[in-house]
Amino acid sequence: MPRFEDRPHELFAQINRSIAFDRRLAPYDVAQSRAHARALRALGVLSDEELGRLDEGLGAVADELEAGSFSFGDADEDIHMAIERRLTEIAGPVGGKLHTGRSRNDQVATDLAMYLRERCAVAVDLLASVMEVLLGLADRHADWPMPGYTHLQRAQPVYLGHHLLAYFWMFDRDARRFAVAREAAAVLPLGSGALAGLNWEIDRDLVARELGFSAVAPNSMDAVSSRDTALDYLSAASVCAVHLSRLGGELVLWSSDEFGFCEPADDLSSGSSIMPHKKNPDAAELLRAKAPRIASGFGILAGVLHGLPLAYSKDLQEDKEALFDAVDNLELCLEAAGAMLRGLTFDRERLAAAAADEFPAATDIADLLVGKGMPFREAHGVVGGLVRQALESGRTLSQLTPEEIRQHSELLDDSYYQVLTSGQWLESKVSVGGTASARVVEQLEAARAALAKLREQPAK
Ligand code: ARG
Repeated sequence: MPRFEDRPHELFAQINRSIAFDRRLAPYDVAQSRAHARALRALGVLSDEELGRLDEGLGAVADELEAGSFSFGDADEDIHMAIERRLTEIAGPVGGKLHTGRSRNDQVATDLAMYLRERCAVAVDLLASVMEVLLGLADRHADWPMPGYTHLQRAQPVYLGHHLLAYFWMFDRDARRFAVAREAAAVLPLGSGALAGLNWEIDRDLVARELGFSAVAPNSMDAVSSRDTALDYLSAASVCAVHLSRLGGELVLWSSDEFGFCEPADDLSSGSSIMPHKKNPDAAELLRAKAPRIASGFGILAGVLHGLPLAYSKDLQEDKEALFDAVDNLELCLEAAGAMLRGLTFDRERLAAAAADEFPAATDIADLLVGKGMPFREAHGVVGGLVRQALESGRTLSQLTPEEIRQHSELLDDSYYQVLTSGQWLESKVSVGGTASARVVEQLEAARAALAKLREQPAK
């Protein structure tokens, strides 16, 4: 049974309305209205007295919104109309003058740009906090050996600090993406009108300065129909969410009994209602699972925009919910990641025991042979034979006798056993970006510098 069968007006209002979700743009709408009123005064459209009344009225509206006492009416289609309606109730008919030289098309684009500038700055801040925690952890665990994996098979040992810093650099790139998105959002759409520009030569630079924009949009049609800044945010958020998800997935594995590498803090994990021995890494699991939801925001908005002719179409109203949902969840995840990392404790012995497995040193034995002049492919074959012999006789590589190893290659001597001494394989990874201690120390330095640079970003 259709719900609106005999009430087509209600049906239209229902599908057309964005007030349920665009009310979060209210503070920006009020701020831009104040700046716009001043520009109208400069044009002579408003008298000083009228500007004063509008300013006072907008102040009262802002107070109501802040206090939660602003009452939204049934006829309020969106936040822009709701604010203008209330302003007119408070300030009288002069409220109707505020829409001179402004369309909801450039108005909503401006609100969104202001909102996104702020959210990008918040994302950078939150990322910097997560990076700080990672840096501290990496510093404190700089020389703790652990296995590094490929195909989730133990591949080559690394230092835990090195592994943690891998995430630091992911988040550093994310933060820089948000910083770029923020700059792109600092171009003012207001003053573009519905699509073609205004009948007044309004001082757009004045408005831009007042609202903290660094430039004005050079094309009115682009200004009202572009949602690039939202795409930029969502694209940065998608990549960031993928990083958070990989971190979450790793922490889930590491905190399992099978790995036993770390333990999450009590307040970010849960017990089981029927299995008292369990401690579930819930927050890490949710970091892992939120990524598709956040990343889908990009797909939704790209879908809304693709093929959309210029300039404004009501389709553009569908830019908001996916964006807001992504913002809320990304910010939540970043906070959770910071808290989760802050509460982790690592088990040095478990990590070291897992890293002590000798087979991952196979590549190093091959490199030893290469150092003695053997082509790598041939060395690879020799080591394959050594590994096979050790496995078949139930021994480790270092338990093979000097006679046995020489049968595989004349070049193998005492240095073979030295390579297999624990610690060797880590300290030999001396290339730039490798896990050798000296390189990790260098990396920690670089990370500290990167974080300091990020913190120099201008405030919201
Ligand atoms: N609620 C609309 C939106 O979010 C505001 C712009 C409406 N403009 C219009 N011409 N109907 O996009």
